[in-house]
Amino acid sequence: MSDPADVAASRRKPTTLLRLAQMHREREKIAVLTCYDASFARLMDEAGVDALLVGDSLGMVVQGRTDTLPVTTEEIAYHTACVARGNHGAWVIADMPFGSYHASTEQSIANACRLFQAGAQMVKLEGAWAAPTIRALTDRGMPVCAHLGFTPQTVHALGGYRVQGRDSDGAALLRRQAHEVVEAGAQMLVLELVPSTLARELTAELPIPTIGIGAGRDCSGQVLVMHDMLGVTPGKLPRFVRRFVEGSADVREAVQRFVRDVKNGAYPDESLHGY
Ligand code: KIV
Repeated sequence: MSDPADVAASRRKPTTLLRLAQMHREREKIAVLTCYDASFARLMDEAGVDALLVGDSLGMVVQGRTDTLPVTTEEIAYHTACVARGNHGAWVIADMPFGSYHASTEQSIANACRLFQAGAQMVKLEGAWAAPTIRALTDRGMPVCAHLGFTPQTVHALGGYRVQGRDSDGAALLRRQAHEVVEAGAQMLVLELVPSTLARELTAELPIPTIGIGAGRDCSGQVLVMHDMLGVTPGKLPRFVRRFVEGSADVREAVQRFVRDVKNGAYPDESLHGY
């Protein structure tokens, strides 16, 4: 007899790039969580999460490091393969880690290919400086998600975890960068620690979905690190994080509540913006 969970997952139509673009156009919110293994991939997929991000945040929440910089392409590939095995219908995004797209276009293409072969459907790159690489990858049929605002791989250059684009020069720079990555072919954009008004304007003017984290409620969708929303991460969390596990019977319900609250606009509320 087949497992009811398998049946539920197999009934779900797989999320595609076209569907994500349609969700952005029709203002249907996109729910994204980070994910690093097959069991959580299956649970999140069944709970209706639209996209699973194999983030280099795994360096911190899985490997216990202080930042994302030591994570390698092979490590992301390993976790992407695990996620792809457990997943059925969610869109799978893999982070290109620090150093994997910095040296040359050839290096970037080879590393991106490794992640697609592991099961990624899109790769994520931080920074507008990577626009030529975004062009090279999308020209070769590899969808790219750009990541602007606070970019963890450049934490040292940015002087710590700070909201980006606060003043008018910063906002103008971020707007230019957003248009640059779209021009280069990016099909999704993560906005991290960006003022909510700027994120709202960018979401309205860009033709691609924006996924916010600490960027207010008006992005096309929201992403959280799973360990944060499940209350596993110790210590003080950024203000924008909601611990969905609180008040939920179990992990499955916490993930279902995240999906529901993102979809109906109950998460985040304005007070949860910023750091
Ligand atoms: O690595 C990651 O988990 C991320 C999200 C925080 C957006 O990039």
